[in-house]
Amino acid sequence: MQAIILVGGEGTRLRPLTTTTPKPLLPIVEVAFLERQLDWLASYGIKDVVLSLGYLPDAFFAHFPNNRFGDINLRYVVESSPLGTAGAIRFAVDELGIQQRCVVCNGDVLTSLNLAEMENFHVEHKADATISLTWVDDPSAFGVVDTSSDGRVVEFIEKPNREQASTQWINSGTYILEPAAFSAIPAGVPVSIERETFPTLLAAAAPLYALATKGYWLDIGTPEKYRQAHFDVLEGAMGKPPVMGAQEVELCCWQNGSASVDPTAKVSPPSFLGAEVGISARVVIDGSTIGTKSSLGPDTQVVRSVLHDQVTVGTSVNISDSIIGSGVIIGDGASVIDDSIIGAGAKIAPGATIKGARLAPGSRAD
Ligand code: GDD
Ligand code: MG
Repeated sequence: MQAIILVGGEGTRLRPLTTTTPKPLLPIVEVAFLERQLDWLASYGIKDVVLSLGYLPDAFFAHFPNNRFGDINLRYVVESSPLGTAGAIRFAVDELGIQQRCVVCNGDVLTSLNLAEMENFHVEHKADATISLTWVDDPSAFGVVDTSSDGRVVEFIEKPNREQASTQWINSGTYILEPAAFSAIPAGVPVSIERETFPTLLAAAAPLYALATKGYWLDIGTPEKYRQAHFDVLEGAMGKPPVMGAQEVELCCWQNGSASVDPTAKVSPPSFLGAEVGISARVVIDGSTIGTKSSLGPDTQVVRSVLHDQVTVGTSVNISDSIIGSGVIIGDGASVIDDSIIGAGAKIAPGATIKGARLAPGSRAD
């Protein structure tokens, strides 16, 4: 099997982080999300992966300069304008002459789903398409998938309102598709797999099946879920240490050997301190990731937050429930709280309060 990963979206819900970095290349505990996804595909022997690009394609070329990731050979297709989730698949298939079974993945789903089990199920049921499902509390932000007892899909409704959703099983964004499914997608026009292709296959009584995903699953596409992904990876959701070479200094508290931590600082799980991080006296870090070469001044508190690399934080700063981009500078006594997102390279003046706000990359806040 080969893989197609849909990574052409703009990641609007994660702006301004995605103004400079496409969503799949944002780090989850120091490792680009896409690398975690490629690692998972590689663990099932996938060696040929097509990245379906549209938004900021050069960032992907720069990230994988040799078009390789371990044993995986990467190929790219770039849409000149967004073709939607199915249009992008059809475009990739036509551009590269793909005529074999493919696993297609949304480029923002962190999962440990058993792909071998899914392929066996797909083959046994002679499906044209198999959708992996996961169970969520509120299905209204997802594609809701109803099946009969043998796993055949009977209804697919994308983002219904709460009352319309007949089940809490949702499309988890991993599909196995046969060439017969590619043919059901019109070429050269924008097409949504969720709103058009799956309903079309259903109307034609094509063999469309779904299988419940066991294991970890998270769509990282909102700020809250992006932070959640860090906690989960630090707590072992993907079944391995968060970063090669990191040490678990206490249960779910990970540290790179070159981090320097004042003995009066308190670090509580799940947390991560990257390489060359400097933590001053009486700092409190609770459930947070501190990226490489970042420094925190005395008496600062960081709670349920993610700091990317090279963030400089002054004295007595309060950061909670927020995401801080690379190279941000935060002055003494400032607060960054309540789901704020600070774009790369922004500067926050001493004493400023940023509450539930998003700051553009390179901007200044007083
Ligand atoms: N190449 C390309 N072109 N990729 C695209 C395009 C496009 O025009 N539009 C979206 N994508 C990519 C995005 O980059 C993302 O990786 C993936 O397709 C899904 O888009 P999202 O914008 O993240 O969709 P969603 O999260 O609202 O909903 C989707 O995922 C849910 C599971 O997380 C749907 O597939 C839902 O049915 C599903 O439940
Ligand atoms: Mg998504």
